[in-house]
Amino acid sequence: MAKLGVNIDHVATVRQARRTIEPDPVWAAAEAQLGGADGITFHLREDRRHINDRDAALLKQTVTCKLNMEMSIAPAIVRIAENLRPNQCTLVPERRQELTTEGGLDVIRFKRRIAPVVQRLHRKGIEVSAFIEPIAEQVKMCADLDFDAIELWTGGYAHARGARARKRSLKQLETALELGWERGLVVHGGHGLTYDNIGPVAEMEFEEFNIGHSIVARAILVGMREAVRQMKVLATGVFQ
Ligand code: PXP
Repeated sequence: MAKLGVNIDHVATVRQARRTIEPDPVWAAAEAQLGGADGITFHLREDRRHINDRDAALLKQTVTCKLNMEMSIAPAIVRIAENLRPNQCTLVPERRQELTTEGGLDVIRFKRRIAPVVQRLHRKGIEVSAFIEPIAEQVKMCADLDFDAIELWTGGYAHARGARARKRSLKQLETALELGWERGLVVHGGHGLTYDNIGPVAEMEFEEFNIGHSIVARAILVGMREAVRQMKVLATGVFQ
């Protein structure tokens, strides 16, 4: 049965819209846990556009389920991760202009820079995952680079227009997922997943989903605890 990681970045985005102190993503993480989140995910971006260093430190102190830090491979961020020691770091591509993470990290192109980062995080006892597109060569390279896990970019499926395109992207996910497990990687999924589209991927053998925007959007209307509870049922089949 899959687990649900809740990405709380967008709570911080609302706070940063006014550069104030509310809503607090640390409170949101606690509420998400009470709603049944199996993990809390945050992305400490180099430009600190939403989550900041204070949030990261408090999340580390207060989150009692799995803490997953999304991060680029920029040296300053790697040093922060080494000191923070979340349970898992997920390496993602990062561009300043983007609205959100767009597509996966190209682990083939950047393998020389990625390899030492994986080793450094391992030395601190942190599990390391790579956010990649569902492409066989990328999956294989993650196994070669000694990643513990991969998070398959589900954006291709989420953005697919029409039944045929959706089916094709589900097939790509399925193939990459099977290859990942075969190569000894734990396989997660995330990006663009919503209450409406989670169904077909929830039936696959994903270990964990990381879902942010859709949950935070619903939380504005029904509260974080209830929004997480509803997604948990759909993503994992578990009633809280
Ligand atoms: N997983 C990764 C690696 C991401 O970068 C993001 C977006 O921050 C998510 C999952 C969550 O995506 P969404 O907000 O579309 O649910």
